[in-house]
Amino acid sequence: MTRDLLSLKMFTFTLATALLGLLFTSCSFGNKKPSYKRIADHKIAPLFLQRESLYDLHRYLSQEELSNKILQLFEAARWAPSEYNKQPWKFIYGIHGTQHWNRLFDTVVPGNQKWVTNAGALIVVLSQNRNTDGSPLPSHSFDTGLAVAQLLLQATTLGLVAHPLGGFKHDNVRQEFNIPEEYTIEAMVAIGEKASQEHSNESFSKRDARQINRKPLSEIAFEGNLKSA
Ligand SMILES: Cc1cc2nc3c(=O)[nH]c(=O)nc-3n(C[C@H](O)[C@H](O)[C@H](O)COP(=O)(O)O)c2cc1C
Repeated sequence: MTRDLLSLKMFTFTLATALLGLLFTSCSFGNKKPSYKRIADHKIAPLFLQRESLYDLHRYLSQEELSNKILQLFEAARWAPSEYNKQPWKFIYGIHGTQHWNRLFDTVVPGNQKWVTNAGALIVVLSQNRNTDGSPLPSHSFDTGLAVAQLLLQATTLGLVAHPLGGFKHDNVRQEFNIPEEYTIEAMVAIGEKASQEHSNESFSKRDARQINRKPLSEIAFEGNLKSA
């Protein structure tokens, strides 16, 4: 298994852990109605079910409005826990309509470009994989996954969609943005707004309406010993 694949697996695992573990007791959803198609087996804060990786997006906010909101997303990420408080995460972003956006968008694979084109911003998530003295930072991907989970949930509280994506050309990002090897390129996150009926795209909206489920707790949490499938 390559280092990149291992890193992606760890990053994904961290996101899943964080989304289950973070406890939000109150939040606002702007004027967007919550989706009821996700059903939890145990009582959890509604925010966890409210967050969705949606495809049917449309830009309503101005560049300036989104630029301001996006700072709130990074602020939420900033307060994530990390091993020894190392905070290995870094974010590069571009707002739609700017040259930074174009540079990021060009690295996205065509299948993802179809829906990402309607997003308002693209973020690349990096994590520092070693200390300045060259010693490794073993939990860098885990820590950065936690930060991204906070970013996703903060976006949800602001009525924004934050859709993570791994479908982009990592090497092109490294080259285009001159990213040194001590940073692992973990993922991208597209930030957007849910399209209203007027601006909705039928195939994206159908995709968003699909029932999304999760493995049951009996397959992921064990009192005592691990039971493999
Ligand atoms: C690391 C990572 C990479 C992902 N890559 C993509 C992607 O390239 N394209 C895409 O449409 N969704 C992508 N997703 C979104 C997942 O498909 C989505 O999270 C999953 O289907 C569960 O849906 P939910 O987020 O709405 O709960 C990715 C998510 C993560 C965490």
